[in-house]
Parts: sequence; C-alpha cells; structure tokens
Amino acid sequence: MQNRYDFVVALAKEAGEKVLQAREKHVDISIKNNDPRDLVTNVDIEVSQFISQRIGESFPGEKIYSEEADDDISSGSFWAIDPIDGTKNFVRGFPMFSVVIAYVEKDKASVGAVYNPITKELYSFERGRGAFLNQIPIHVSNKTELKESTIFLTTGRNQEQWEWGTKMYRFLLEYSHSVRGIASSGLDICSVAAGRSEACIYANLTTIDVIAAIGILEEAGGLAEGKSGALDPMSKVPQILIAANNQEILSALRAAL
Ligand code: IPD
Ligand code: CA
Ligand code: CA
Repeated sequence: MQNRYDFVVALAKEAGEKVLQAREKHVDISIKNNDPRDLVTNVDIEVSQFISQRIGESFPGEKIYSEEADDDISSGSFWAIDPIDGTKNFVRGFPMFSVVIAYVEKDKASVGAVYNPITKELYSFERGRGAFLNQIPIHVSNKTELKESTIFLTTGRNQEQWEWGTKMYRFLLEYSHSVRGIASSGLDICSVAAGRSEACIYANLTTIDVIAAIGILEEAGGLAEGKSGALDPMSKVPQILIAANNQEILSALRAAL
C-alpha cells in the first residue's frame, strides 16, 4: 500500500494546481446553507471530486468526508477534505486560501497537508514524526508574553459573538503585539505552527475541515483547545477554537474569553 504521508503531500500539491487551472476557466459563485455570506464555487466542487477520485484510485473503498459533499462521516478511519479553505479570499482574488487533506485513523488524524497554491507553501505532518513547511521541520515560537505576541482573531456572526468578539478585539488591541486574521482558518493555524504568530482564536469553526492544520500545530509543539478545555477536532458543529504556541499564551487568552 502507498505511504499515506507521501500520498497526502503529493495530492495536496496536485489539487492546489487544479484549483489554479480551474480558476482560469471560470468561477461560478453560489450561496450555501441559505446564507449569502457562505459561499461555494464550481472550483470547490470540482476539486473536491478530483481529490476523492484520486483517493479512491489509491485507497479503494476507504471512507471520505468532504466539506463540499453530502456524507455523514465523522468517526473511525476516513479521509477529511476541504478543497478550498478560504473561499471568500479565493473569489476576491486574495492569495490566502488552501487545500486541506488529512487521514483520520481511529478518530485521530495521522497525516495531513495544507497547501497554498499561490505562495507554494505546503505544510504537512505525520503523527510522531513532526510538522514541516516545504519539507523543512517547523516549530512554534517560544514567546510567552502576550505583549510580544501576534494573535489572529476571527469572530462569528450572531449577536453573542459580536459582543464577545468586540471585547476580545479590544483586549488584544491593548495587551497583544498585534491582532489580525488571514480568513483561511487552515492557514491561520499553520502560521502558529510555523512560529509566524503565537495564537489564533476562532469563535465559530467546524474543526473537521481543518483537522490537518490541527495535526500540524500539535506536531510543531502547539496546543489547540475548545471553549472550556479539550477540543473536538472532528466537529461539524461550529465551535470556539483557541490554538496557541504554548500554555502561557493559551492561559493568557483563556483568561480573557
Ligand atoms: C472558512 C475559513 C474561515 C473561517 C470560516 C470557514 P471555507 O472556510 O476557514 O477562515 O472563518 O468559518 O468557513 O468556508 O472557506 O472553507
Ligand atoms: Ca471550504
Ligand atoms: Ca474551511
């Protein structure tokens, strides 16, 4: 059987190039879930199908969950795909989006990759062997003070989250070094893994879509938690995620939540 790590790395790259080729032909934008702010394009669907087909050829019969397909898999062993993470960036031509693919083995992601086809940056991990950026090992930053830290913050869209997000933003403006966001949660989390930022906070994230990025962060020495402790990395229900380089930064942020 083909090595899963080698497979996932090669496939993320191939799918990323597919995204760029498909974009050249045409991009049709549609609305998902009856929400005008939730977008999907023909490219998301085509690339999802492409990735599923490749997996089927190399690992026949294995289960596949894709953000853009109607399947109900969220436990056991399966492949998890987000063909374009950061679709809003993609449709506006903002070069921060990624292809995300992981293999989940008995409820735990064992290998995964996050690829930005514009910057050609490929993050990957293999459980127990480490995390890599373009095959070079990466590690989280060693900053322990919030005032030296760059934090990504993405808040949600309901009333409670507006209040919460505004307070959080206010807190970070005062106590962190800088506060920003890429709007591709996979890339946000990988930025923490690569030591480019210290933490990212999402008010409303379906973690299953970016389980590869969570694996990359953990293998790079970082931590990902939920609102009141352990995170469900396979949730299809949006939830709070705090991803941080270390316990000091995580605790400082948790105190403000
Ligand atoms: C979105 C991105 C974004 C996050 C949204 C996600 P999508 O993924 O990860 O950063 O704020 O909640 O839905 O829809 O572009 O795959
Ligand atoms: Ca997506
Ligand atoms: Ca996503």
